[in-house]
Amino acid sequence: MKTNLYSILQRKIILITLVVSLAPLIILGAVIYYQFAEIYQVKIEEQIIYRATAQAEALELFLKERTAILSAMADTHRFMDMTDGRQLNNIFQVMNTHAGAFVDLGVIDNAGRHLAYVGPYNLEGLNYFQQPWFGEVMSRGIYISDVYMGYRQIPHFIIAVRRQENDQSWILRATIDPYIFGNIVQAAQVGKTGDAYIINKEGIYQTQPRFGADIQSKSNLDTSLFGGKTSVIEMTNGNGNQILYAGAWLKNNTWLLVINQEVKEEMRGLLATRTMEVIIILAGILAIVLTTIFTTFLAISGLRAADNKMNELNAQLVQSDKMAALGKMAAGLAHEINNPLAVILQKTGWMEDLLEDEDFKQSQNLHEFRTSIKKIEEHVERARKVVHNMLGYARKMEPHLEDVDINSTLRQTINLLENYARINNIEITTELAADIPIIASEQAQLQQVFLNLISNAIDAINKDGIVRIVSKCVQNSIEVQIIDNGPGIPDDLQSKIFDPFFTTKETGRGTGLGLWVSYDIMQKLGGNIQFRSQVDQGTIFTVSIPMVTPEKK
Ligand SMILES: Nc1ncnc2c1ncn2[C@@H]1O[C@H](COP(=O)(O)OP(=O)(O)OP(=O)(O)O)[C@@H](O)[C@H]1O
Ligand SMILES: [Mg+2]
Repeated sequence: MKTNLYSILQRKIILITLVVSLAPLIILGAVIYYQFAEIYQVKIEEQIIYRATAQAEALELFLKERTAILSAMADTHRFMDMTDGRQLNNIFQVMNTHAGAFVDLGVIDNAGRHLAYVGPYNLEGLNYFQQPWFGEVMSRGIYISDVYMGYRQIPHFIIAVRRQENDQSWILRATIDPYIFGNIVQAAQVGKTGDAYIINKEGIYQTQPRFGADIQSKSNLDTSLFGGKTSVIEMTNGNGNQILYAGAWLKNNTWLLVINQEVKEEMRGLLATRTMEVIIILAGILAIVLTTIFTTFLAISGLRAADNKMNELNAQLVQSDKMAALGKMAAGLAHEINNPLAVILQKTGWMEDLLEDEDFKQSQNLHEFRTSIKKIEEHVERARKVVHNMLGYARKMEPHLEDVDINSTLRQTINLLENYARINNIEITTELAADIPIIASEQAQLQQVFLNLISNAIDAINKDGIVRIVSKCVQNSIEVQIIDNGPGIPDDLQSKIFDPFFTTKETGRGTGLGLWVSYDIMQKLGGNIQFRSQVDQGTIFTVSIPMVTPEKK
């Protein structure tokens, strides 16, 4: 029942401590866990936008440089010089030296005829009048085309500028090396899943993407989702993976540079950090749980020990109260019985005298009378012994302290009992410490206690055994132990042995007052009696006597 209370208390303390200490830790952990993911996501988006912007600027610059050098050439040369094959070749060399990435260069008149050409394809003499780009250049003056196949049947794009000389218009046109341009775009492909490519407004690939599609095929990315200069969207692909797309418009918002990246790959750093966070928090939880259980266990054990001590003290208090009440009653009772006993004894004496008279001597029942009177005397004697003990108990002790040598008191007591012990083949041994000081106490009282205890030990052994008597100094008291190897005291009797009239001895042999009186004497002398007993092993009675130094005379 009590044990149950302790474990309920222990459980409650552990529960409350754990809730109070773990809740903030877990909440903090969760907040960091999710907050961190949000911040990380924003960082990833910022980073991919930054990459797209930077790359778009580089590409824009590339196109601007090429357009500028083409315009410069058209501005500084006359149509006549341009159509001369050698001159055009020179110009082409200069352009490639200064800017590079030009595949070919051609001059076209206002009727769409290709009048001069430098480059790896055989395109001279072809007519471009019907080609869509021709009309664009003629109307706009400067034109950068989308990627197309054209006469050469290879994906490419061109930059063309129109010039007016007298009343004649002509066009200088250059093809950009699609591989060099494509390489610049692909430089933005990162990681295992990252891609970078250009699509036009209709979603047609203008450069070769890294995965799963060809240049000039149609991408399923909806370009209208990308607004402003640079923007980012998130979509789920066929495998259920989240993918971030950053789009940056270039070439007058006709080309869209797309940089995409699987979120999972970018999040790898976050996952490692999260795992670390979870491990740290779990370790913290484990430490808190263990510490809580351990400290609660310590506290409850302390409480239990304190409670036990308190219970012991309470039991002692109850015992003292019981003794005091019984003492008062015994005093009254003894007094009341003593007087009638004295009268009975006096009357039996007188009856014995009467039996000596001649009249009675003739009586047939003389013998009967005599044995009856003896019996009455015997029983009255026994009753007197009881009353004597009880009076001894109840008597108020005057503080009459004298010098007492405990060891010599013990020896005297043993002397009194030695004969009795020897008859029953019981040996009494002594281990008396030499350093026991003379104390102020009451020798007669102490002797009575020792006598009671040693005779109890002898009675318990009954026949064949050893009674050991030990004396020693322990802190502020002298301890005397009477140790026997008798039958011990059963557990259920241990709480009763100090009660008055409790005896296990046959009627007429024990009064059951010995321990009761001894207990009271020791209380009055400021000491105490305790015992430990184990059935079939024996019993140890320990008497503690306060070490009171005698006053110097
Ligand atoms: N050393 C012991 N070993 C075993 N039992 C003991 C021992 N000392 C006391 N007892 C038990 O305690 C009981 C009470 O002892 P107590 O001295 O009060 O009375 P008693 O010895 O029975 O009677 P009396 O003291 O009048 O002879 C004993 O009857 C016995 O059962
Ligand atoms: Mg006794």
